[in-house]
Amino acid sequence: MRLRAQAIDCRGRVVMPGFVDSHTHLIFAGSRVNDYELRLRGKTYEEIASAGGGIQSSAQKVRTASVSSLAEQARKFLGEFAAHGTTTMEVKSGYGLAIEQELKILRVIRILQQDTTLDLLSTLLALHALPASFKGRAAQYVEEVITRLIPVVAHGKLAEFIDCFCDRGAFSVEDCRRVLAAGRGFGLVPRIHAEQHSRTGAALLGIKCGAASAEHLDKVSPADIRALARSNVVATLLPGVNFHPGLKQYPPARRLITAGAAVALATDFNPGTSPTLNMQFIMSLACTQMRMTPPEAIAASTINGACARRRADRIGSLEAGKQADLIVLDVDDYREIPYYFAVNHCVMTVKRGRIIYSQG
Ligand code: NIG
Ligand code: FE
Repeated sequence: MRLRAQAIDCRGRVVMPGFVDSHTHLIFAGSRVNDYELRLRGKTYEEIASAGGGIQSSAQKVRTASVSSLAEQARKFLGEFAAHGTTTMEVKSGYGLAIEQELKILRVIRILQQDTTLDLLSTLLALHALPASFKGRAAQYVEEVITRLIPVVAHGKLAEFIDCFCDRGAFSVEDCRRVLAAGRGFGLVPRIHAEQHSRTGAALLGIKCGAASAEHLDKVSPADIRALARSNVVATLLPGVNFHPGLKQYPPARRLITAGAAVALATDFNPGTSPTLNMQFIMSLACTQMRMTPPEAIAASTINGACARRRADRIGSLEAGKQADLIVLDVDDYREIPYYFAVNHCVMTVKRGRIIYSQG
């Protein structure tokens, strides 16, 4: 067989692996600009959530949205992800907060998997917020998730990963342990939103249950850092969440790297805490706010993201035998990617050897 190849002149530009954005909440309806303004006026994330805003308000919008309208909104964003150099991304459910609604979101992800050029890896975010109708009955909701949601998702092969939001104001370590164990029993790979607003022991739970990654990690303790460094759990940092409302503190990237943990970066694209889809800007935040070096930020945005989603054998680096997922950036030194911040340097995105985006 003769292979037909096209030569592309990339002289004077940077060619690198496509970004692997290993943590997004792509499927939502509308936005949360009201929450944004409230936060700028001084309300905390938890105050807004307990007043019925936050995740609950996104869930309300999802409930009345159709599958096609959810898919349509997501498709617009997917085009932008590709234009900004993302070639693989994880997408989770979580704004359903009811069995049927979570399944609806996962079906949207399945439709998108079939009609987009990017690789989308699906996660069941089984515990995100307690639905208002279960107020004071968290144990019952957890039971419902275990007995009614997880088996259907697993049998329908609607997700590869299972995730929980373990935090003060969200779900307890014990609730998350039960749900992640149940998911694992059905072949779903655990991962966890851990130590974001408070230190709960979620990172250690992630290690114990063989999680692929623990995400956020703003409040990790020194012992958590040592344990993560000894484990195979990828420490996924999401600095867009800190930037969005102007927080002063960022996750402790340097301490994690120095201890020997594998650190990945992701956008956490979602309407509440991090409405950015630009991994290049996440790299700038990582360098400027968390003191990562540009090479560390590139590795964290590509190969380490691939490790977090258990795809390091196929994507995340430019090597013979891997998928040809690569991007061309209009800079002549890779350090300029974070340096010229908040702009899109990507001029071409190649997915599995095919050009899926080209500027102009
Ligand atoms: O990763 N931490 C929980 N979930 C999301 C935010 C969800 C929201 O506020 O809509 C996060 O930050
Ligand atoms: Fe998240």
